[in-house]
Amino acid sequence: MITGGAGFIGSHVVRLFVTKYPSYRIINVDALTYAGNLENLRDIENASNYVFENADIKNEAQISKIMEEYHIDGIIHLAAESHVDRSISGPMEFALTNVVGTLNLLNIAKNHWENFEGKTFYHISTDEVYGSLSMDDPMFSETTPYDPRSPYSASKASSDHFVRAYFHTYGLPVKISNCSNNYGSHQFPEKLIPLVINNIVNNKDLPIYGKGDNIRDWLWVEDHAKAIDVIFHKGENGETYNIGGLNEWTNLQLVETMCDILDEKLNREKGTNRKLITFVKDRLGHDKRYAIDATKIEKDLNWKPSIEFEEGLEKTIDWYLQNQEWVKNVTSGEYQKYYDEHYR
Ligand code: NAD
Ligand code: TYD
Repeated sequence: MITGGAGFIGSHVVRLFVTKYPSYRIINVDALTYAGNLENLRDIENASNYVFENADIKNEAQISKIMEEYHIDGIIHLAAESHVDRSISGPMEFALTNVVGTLNLLNIAKNHWENFEGKTFYHISTDEVYGSLSMDDPMFSETTPYDPRSPYSASKASSDHFVRAYFHTYGLPVKISNCSNNYGSHQFPEKLIPLVINNIVNNKDLPIYGKGDNIRDWLWVEDHAKAIDVIFHKGENGETYNIGGLNEWTNLQLVETMCDILDEKLNREKGTNRKLITFVKDRLGHDKRYAIDATKIEKDLNWKPSIEFEEGLEKTIDWYLQNQEWVKNVTSGEYQKYYDEHYR
């Protein structure tokens, strides 16, 4: 069972597992919130080892029925509310989905599995639980103390704690990974990279929070999916793995680079897109810098990122340019209302 499989990262994980493991039956459990989109999985939706179940991770009856019906023996849990800005304007939904939803899944897995032999509950989390680094702090490692500072990261930290509590208290076979910012195809355009691509295409302002000097450590989403595959199969129960690409960029550097790439791709005069950059009011409690030390997963599980950022960024931009219909579908309706209210 993969929860949140209709979302950005989840759809890449579902695709990888459905194609790489024909002998597994993959059950994608997703409530199809604004961020979930079955179009993300059109290419594999008819695969004989793939099933979609529209269900809410908070709903005990729905999830129990799925566990029974499909004899679920492994769970990769990605379903979540994932956008920091939305967590600032509406934190309650984050506590309900990310904390209560995860607790519900843990409880159902514990009660449903008669013994834990060969079972896995793998929880996907974020580096944001570790808080905010200053420029000269060392990178986050697996032993960095938790210090979440946004309602989103607080809810993810809380869910991580519950997952570990189920390992220590009940012996549930859990694994956790904490990953840095992902980028790639099918990301909802509320997040920085797809938002900037979409706004450049439509000649709209590019909103940069504060001075644009906050730093994020970007990882190609397909490399994250591969890391999830490796951890699911080879990671130790009770262990945490940090996943990242050693790839720190300030937001301004990143947006300027995207402007330049898109000047060329859209045949605009050099410097045209940079004129769209607009500095706007900073995000409340905006974390300064994230950076991941991924030594443990590299050494213990032999995983490392497969592509350079410049190549991944170009591939991502090309995907959005070639999939304008997808963009149009996800940015109609609710998105416009969110955008107008948030960037008003
Ligand atoms: P996303 O917002 O694109 O997708 C979330 C998915 O979960 C959607 O398909 C949505 O419909 C589904 N969902 C939400 N609430 C649900 C519920 N109650 N029941 C069932 N399904 C529900 O998120 P994403 O960016 O793909 O992130 C996936 C996971 O990875 C999250 O747990 C997130 O915290 C974590 N993560 C994300 C990043 C990142 O850069 N995007 C980095 C590290 C970790
Ligand atoms: P985002 O993609 O929301 O990811 P996260 O907050 O989880 O890191 O934002 C990435 C960075 O870009 C973050 O520092 C906030 C900044 N940002 C902007 O400057 N403008 C925007 O419109 C958005 C959405 C983000």
